[in-house]
Amino acid sequence: MKIREFELERYFAKYEFHVQYMLSPSDCEPLGLTELLGMADDECRELWSTLRLSYTEPYGCPALLTEIAKRYRHAEENGVVTAAPEEAILLTFMALLEPGDHVVAVSPAYQSLHELPRALGAEVTPWTLRLRDGRWTLDIEELFRLFRPETKILVLNFPHNPTGFIPTEEEYLTVLDQAAKRGIFVLSDEMYRGLEHSAANILPAACDFLPYAASLSGLSKAFALPGLRLGWLCSQDRAFLRRVASLKDYTTICMNAPGEILGIVALRNADRILDRSRRLVGGNLRLTEAVFARHPESLFWAPPLGGSTAFPKLSETIPVAEFCRRVVEERNLMVLPDTVFDVNWNHIRIGLGRRDYPAAIAVFEDFLGSCESSACG
Ligand SMILES: Cc1ncc(COP(=O)(O)O)c(C=O)c1O
Repeated sequence: MKIREFELERYFAKYEFHVQYMLSPSDCEPLGLTELLGMADDECRELWSTLRLSYTEPYGCPALLTEIAKRYRHAEENGVVTAAPEEAILLTFMALLEPGDHVVAVSPAYQSLHELPRALGAEVTPWTLRLRDGRWTLDIEELFRLFRPETKILVLNFPHNPTGFIPTEEEYLTVLDQAAKRGIFVLSDEMYRGLEHSAANILPAACDFLPYAASLSGLSKAFALPGLRLGWLCSQDRAFLRRVASLKDYTTICMNAPGEILGIVALRNADRILDRSRRLVGGNLRLTEAVFARHPESLFWAPPLGGSTAFPKLSETIPVAEFCRRVVEERNLMVLPDTVFDVNWNHIRIGLGRRDYPAAIAVFEDFLGSCESSACG
């Protein structure tokens, strides 16, 4: 299998555990084990204290599947298979694609949403977000022109990483409807669901709308538990889920046993955890708006509608590659350049979910100030 290195993950691997400040992580401030266990009800405390570190059920522990299903409107029609979120992306493409198939995928995007179908022999056409009149937009008419008779999968990701874009519900349902009419499977990456900045932007899950679709979600972002490696695919298409479960025999076989119990605790306390994440992101968003208002000549900001990330543009006088290299060397601050998303638009990704974001953005602003007075490039 010929597969390119995962640029974003390599960049994180190089700096994440070595730098003092991070401006760009996509998760929300991870919860501690004690904090999470403190939320456990009697049943979960019993499950935790009697836990055996055995293999677990291939689809996931039934109590966990029940908690996941409750997060969808059509809990009875939908089935669920658990997997690490990244693994679920791989298994979906392996389950559905043959060499020569065609995939349309929202772009820029988390690299595996493009790279894995390509590595499996499919042709991938990007459906590209563009900045228009200070807003991120996706052109739906353009999408219809990208569809071909051999298009097998449409990959969506709302709230979108990195821009925080969310289409209107009308636009979204039009896209789902048109994909369904053409028999195209929709892989809807909903990893940042629960982090919409306004209730008006909350979209229905794709699996609640289409029989031929999968909603991918997990506990890594809004639920602040990336270290559990717990995600899932929810779909009305049972044949698809069976295929995913049987392919999982070649990856992890089953979910890790402690993670399942901790996942039940988290899902039973969803309101509290999501509220914590939304408050963190909201506070950091307001701080960012103030920073951007102080630097209108150097920073352009299309505010995110949801998620924990945003994708601002730096002035062309401050080349992003050079800026990111120097800021990590000189200020110990990691900032993610847009090139890891396969675009070269002079943007950076910022991540709004961490508790130490105020310190990171202060270092960023200070360095930006020195670039403004001395030309960074
Ligand atoms: C859009 C999107 N999908 C999937 C994933 C994978 O999630 P995980 O790292 O928990 O496997 C990420 C992680 O950043 C993501 O941003």
